[in-house]
Amino acid sequence: YGTQNINDNGHLSIGQVDAIDLAKTYGTPLFVYDTALFRERAQGFINTFKNAGVKAQVAYASKAFSSVAIYQLAAEEGLSVDVVSGGELYTALKAGFPSERIHFHGNNKSLDELNFAFDSKIGCIVIDNFYEIDALKKLSEARQQRMHVLIRVTPGVEAHTHDFITTGQADSKFGFDLNNGQADRAFKQLQNHPYLELQGMHCHIGSQIFDTAAFSLAAKKLSDKMGEWHKESGFISQVLNLGGGFGIRYTEEDTPLQPAVYVDDMIKAVQQEIAAFSLPMPEIWIEPGRSLVGDAGTTLYTVGSQKVVPNTRNYLAVDGGMSDNIRPALYEAKYEAVIANKINDKLVNTYTIAGKLCESGDKLIEDIALPEAETGDVLAVFCTGAYGYSMASNYNRIPRPAVVFAENGMHQLVVKRESYEDLVKLDLPLTIRKEVNR
Ligand code: LLP
Repeated sequence: YGTQNINDNGHLSIGQVDAIDLAKTYGTPLFVYDTALFRERAQGFINTFKNAGVKAQVAYASKAFSSVAIYQLAAEEGLSVDVVSGGELYTALKAGFPSERIHFHGNNKSLDELNFAFDSKIGCIVIDNFYEIDALKKLSEARQQRMHVLIRVTPGVEAHTHDFITTGQADSKFGFDLNNGQADRAFKQLQNHPYLELQGMHCHIGSQIFDTAAFSLAAKKLSDKMGEWHKESGFISQVLNLGGGFGIRYTEEDTPLQPAVYVDDMIKAVQQEIAAFSLPMPEIWIEPGRSLVGDAGTTLYTVGSQKVVPNTRNYLAVDGGMSDNIRPALYEAKYEAVIANKINDKLVNTYTIAGKLCESGDKLIEDIALPEAETGDVLAVFCTGAYGYSMASNYNRIPRPAVVFAENGMHQLVVKRESYEDLVKLDLPLTIRKEVNR
């Protein structure tokens, strides 16, 4: 299980801390992040660029898990961050994250959000559409304030896990189409603006990708466009942002490569193309989310009820479910798990792990082999660090779990468990009364 290990008590240990102790101390459901793993992943990306002698920014795509402490960790590791809302920007700034290393994404940023970005002097806004070009021109002129911008393009390379497809026309709500003249029009509109300083291009081709060829093809397409723009207008792109999407291992079916492999291939693709145009090598930016936090996170649950459906399945119910991990219900995402207090026991039963929410689809794992389970056991579901807590909800008024960081035998609460009081703190009592006829 990576750096998650088995200790002398036969318990799962995360960051050299006993998972059962963590469950006792903080309660369940509980997200536990092994922060050493996050650091290792971050340095993996950063060092690959360093070794290749390529200037880079590795921006943590914080939609995967956003909290004050994770932004602080990201800052410590020398990462940049990508935010997609005023809320993420606010949290990053609250954490003291250096604003010049914050990049702002989104296909419908509000004027308030754009003003907030200018107020905070962030590093870069990734422009998604023509509406935003107009809005940013007006805003920057009114404020007489400069801002670095990138143009987000859809290169017509769509990647999902092992496959990728290339389409002429990109059917995406994000970005300017690279193949039908939209991106060129955006480029023309942004040239020589007194306040908006165009740094280059961005694309993001998908998520949970294992195929380096998809990234390389996107890199090639964007580099070609850079060359074209240079020929036409002398524009020199400073930045090529190739997005995130590096796959991780949720189950044995997943076969991710080392970060270095994806990055080296990308670099090669760019170097090859720009050489043909005799352009200088741009800075390469990437935006990994899942591959930084995904396998660093484990969710601990307490086992409650069981139900045997004769000859069909054994349900094992835990004290969370789709409220803290919507991914199985939403994407049929697969996970692996162990009983953290019976880690050396024989796998004698096949269970379906059910959540506690009022929905038949609230299952976390179907048909997993586990030791004989009892009420009170602690189930650890692996690889829940990305898009788990960040997509959590209060469906059924379930309070959101607490989040703990563990490293080197130390542990610390970084997000408190929601209380019932928290659940009603935004609610207001009824004041409108039904009109009564007298
Ligand atoms: N950059 C951009 C512009 C993105 O849209 C995304 C993810 C990322 C970076 C980070 O991608 P990553 O490295 O984490 O794959 N909720 C889904 C994933 C949605 C991803 C959206 N965009 C899930 O749980 O699988």
